[in-house]
Amino acid sequence: MNQQDLIAWSRRALADARSVVVLTGAGISAESGIPTFRGGMQALWKSFDPQTLATPEAFARDPATVTEWYDWRRLKCREALPNPGHVALAELERRVVSRGGSFTLLTQNVDRLHQRAGSSSVTELHGNIMHWRCAATHRSVDPPDGPIPEYPWPSPHHPKAFVRPSVVWFGEALPSDALEIAHRAALAADLFMSVGTSAVVFPAAQFIELAAQTGARTIELNLEPTPISSRVDASIRGLAGDILPRII
Ligand SMILES: NC(=O)c1ccc[n+]([C@@H]2O[C@H](COP(=O)([O-])OP(=O)(O)OC[C@H]3O[C@@H](n4cnc5c(N)ncnc54)[C@H](O)[C@@H]3O)[C@@H](O)[C@H]2O)c1
Repeated sequence: MNQQDLIAWSRRALADARSVVVLTGAGISAESGIPTFRGGMQALWKSFDPQTLATPEAFARDPATVTEWYDWRRLKCREALPNPGHVALAELERRVVSRGGSFTLLTQNVDRLHQRAGSSSVTELHGNIMHWRCAATHRSVDPPDGPIPEYPWPSPHHPKAFVRPSVVWFGEALPSDALEIAHRAALAADLFMSVGTSAVVFPAAQFIELAAQTGARTIELNLEPTPISSRVDASIRGLAGDILPRII
């Protein structure tokens, strides 16, 4: 099928579906000016190794650099605006729910742009960068509107601890409640769509396989081929902000 046919097929599949699950990755926010980790032109960690910054070990070794890096990203996410891809998914949720169906949006993103676009059923698999907490007690600490005044940021709740972003670092477990929601939604889905994710970050990438095994129709939207491209019903190449409004 050519791109036009794939879009038409996806539009019909979405219109027929009663239980819709969408998984998004960094690609959907790229057009909002938030760089992705891998692939694409402005890979966020081109000059930094993600493993050296996004791990509990890095935070223990060099909390100042890790905090400054995340605070820079937090401010970048605050400045960004939702793009037509985020807006289209919020509209899809309204339509599916208004016809009595169920809709689940799973995101690997930490930027909160789905919520700002109007999506209400968002499950954050990797936490969110706007929420920070004491690394020792896990109690919330609200970051200021502007930059955090001190890197690292001493915790007000523990004399020896620093404050950290509530994101999931490499080597940390995903939140169990989010995993449970994702698992149940994937099993119940009759349509599963993956948007702007390189599909190499597990276990999130497994959900589309799970949905396919239980009979869901599957759609992938990405700029490039990924490990799941050959296994989905419709693999569409293009910009999320261009294609999603056309499908939805
Ligand atoms: N916006 C954010 O919150 C943000 C940004 C960067 C990284 N992350 C983190 O990245 C990790 C997961 O990796 P990932 O797979 O989501 O991202 P990734 O960086 O590994 O891959 C992004 C994918 O999006 C595709 N892509 C880029 N621009 C696109 C566009 N305009 N339309 C469609 N597809 C596009 C790329 O081809 C690539 O496959 C998570 O830990 C997540 O928390 C989040």
